[in-house]
Amino acid sequence: MKNIRAQFPIFKEYPNLAYLDSASTTQKPYSVIAAEMDFYQKYNANVHRGIYPLAAEATRAYEAVRAKVQQFINAPSPIISGFPSSTVKEIIFTSGTTDAVNLVATSFALDRVGAGDEIVISAMEHHANLIPWQQVCLRKGGKLVVVPMDTEGVLSMLDFEKAITPKTKLVAVTHISNTLGTVNPIAEIIEVAHRQGVPVFVDAAQSAASHVIDVQKWDVDFLAFSGHKLFGPTGVGVLYGKERWLNEMTPYRFGGEMIRDVTFERTLFAPIPQKFEAGTPNIAGVIGLGAAIDFVESIGRETIKRHTKELLDYATVELLKIDGLEIIGLAAEKSAIVSFILRGAHPHDVATILGQQEVCIRAGHHCTQPIMDFFDIAGTVRASFSIYNTCEDIDKLVAGLKQVQLIFG
Ligand code: ALA
Repeated sequence: MKNIRAQFPIFKEYPNLAYLDSASTTQKPYSVIAAEMDFYQKYNANVHRGIYPLAAEATRAYEAVRAKVQQFINAPSPIISGFPSSTVKEIIFTSGTTDAVNLVATSFALDRVGAGDEIVISAMEHHANLIPWQQVCLRKGGKLVVVPMDTEGVLSMLDFEKAITPKTKLVAVTHISNTLGTVNPIAEIIEVAHRQGVPVFVDAAQSAASHVIDVQKWDVDFLAFSGHKLFGPTGVGVLYGKERWLNEMTPYRFGGEMIRDVTFERTLFAPIPQKFEAGTPNIAGVIGLGAAIDFVESIGRETIKRHTKELLDYATVELLKIDGLEIIGLAAEKSAIVSFILRGAHPHDVATILGQQEVCIRAGHHCTQPIMDFFDIAGTVRASFSIYNTCEDIDKLVAGLKQVQLIFG
């Protein structure tokens, strides 16, 4: 563990930092920071445009990350060959998960949803996997159908089956709830939806760093994740989409480098993935994402999952020893996130006092207000774990919470 923490400069800066907010964003290892810096210092040039060697090197590095992502999620690898580098078709670089949801909502759902049609989501979606679908329904006269959860924060497959009807055009669901930590049975959900011919979008923002994702095994139609929750940079992410869908979709961002031919009368778009990457992309971010994937692979997602599950189990036991503390989200299948409320203390006050003790947690509704409404609470305190956390971090959290209780009597 010492060896892993040593790879993160933030812990050199703050040796006592108990960073328990990795569900919000992970810390970055030296290798990721160095990869971005290397790009700017040694081969900075725009991609897909220049013919000179520096530009070719930048393009090759950028496209190499696309191939790395393809392997990371086991996407099929239909390749378009071309100068100065070949391209994996089904991987689109976005600015993050939110951007990917908006892309699919606008370029896929908006064209397919008509009056009376339905989009199915779950009751535990992040606002980013709710509002874009809600907007599509509002604009097109469709209906957002919400699969309920129980008081433990678990979805029932029976409810999913009931929710999907001949009117359903898409199911959008999160792999892991950012607020409750619930790990949803994605394979089963996809199977249920596909039985009725309904495509599925999976929000893998909270799972990409710790769960092996195999888009072919799941047969998922769309899947998105962000770089910054994967030890990578902010402002970069991935959308995987089946070639068939991506080919049919009309891009919603237009501009340079997404075209085959332009006249004043009409534009022919470039093939996928380029048609969805208008403008100069976040090249340094993509290269940083490649280094982040290397970092994850050097440890192994199974190891990260096991380590964070051990921390979750330890935290659950220790937190429940605190009088007046209630955990929100009690699914048997839970990932490295624990949300709770502390009687007599507002989550924001808890966060402030913990912050003064170098314990970083998130407090509030976590961009999931409907979950707060369901549990009839204003917000929760949320601790989330990653590979660099230790049981000592959790001990600091527990000590900090006892301090909060002393202050609030
Ligand atoms: N979605 C991120 C979180 O849950 C920001 O904190």
